[in-house]
Amino acid sequence: MNQLEQEIISAAATFAKDRMSRLHSSHGWDHVERVVALAAKIAATEKKADPFIIQVAALLHDIARIDEVDSTGIQCHAERGSSIAYEFLLQCGLEEKRAHHIRNCILSHRYRNEHVPDTIEAKVLYDADKLDSIGAVGIGRAFLFSGEVGARLHNPDIDVSLAEAYGKEDTAYREYIVKLRHVSDKMLTDEGKRIAHERHRFMVDFFNRLQDEVKGLS
Ligand SMILES: [Fe+2]
Ligand SMILES: [Fe+2]
Repeated sequence: MNQLEQEIISAAATFAKDRMSRLHSSHGWDHVERVVALAAKIAATEKKADPFIIQVAALLHDIARIDEVDSTGIQCHAERGSSIAYEFLLQCGLEEKRAHHIRNCILSHRYRNEHVPDTIEAKVLYDADKLDSIGAVGIGRAFLFSGEVGARLHNPDIDVSLAEAYGKEDTAYREYIVKLRHVSDKMLTDEGKRIAHERHRFMVDFFNRLQDEVKGLS
């Protein structure tokens, strides 16, 4: 990487870390550091992927999550974050074409609405971000988030498909049933699929055992 690219990576890390300082840790800077590492691992298996684009997009992908929290979910952090990142990168001296590319990676990292990850860099970011929600880390994050919203360790009596998200009944198990057990089917890269398969198996074993343990069966 040339000097400008190294300077931009350093500036992006500082900018993102600062913007994310008020977030709870389930969706904070630690998550970004893991996504950066996972994205680099996946990128190493994709010959055509641009590692600079991927690293900067991963560093900046959640910079507007605080705006989403402050607006109680009205502001989409992918949409807002992609605009903030684009302006930031132009100010850093990055050429417009690459700033635009990174903006699109961030815009599509949730794969919501019409925002489809349609470049290899966007697909790598999407997979890395989703992988951080499954496996041992995903289990840890699900329980951490439950603690942040004051939920219970487990609630075997609730209808997991009906319980309200972001509420006291939003247990890690509900998150697993509704979302996390489907994540491994949604990977877009071969390496993402491989890692997701391993993480998925571990997570299924964990939640099966949790069900048994809370019933006193093991
Ligand atoms: Fe995100
Ligand atoms: Fe993320």
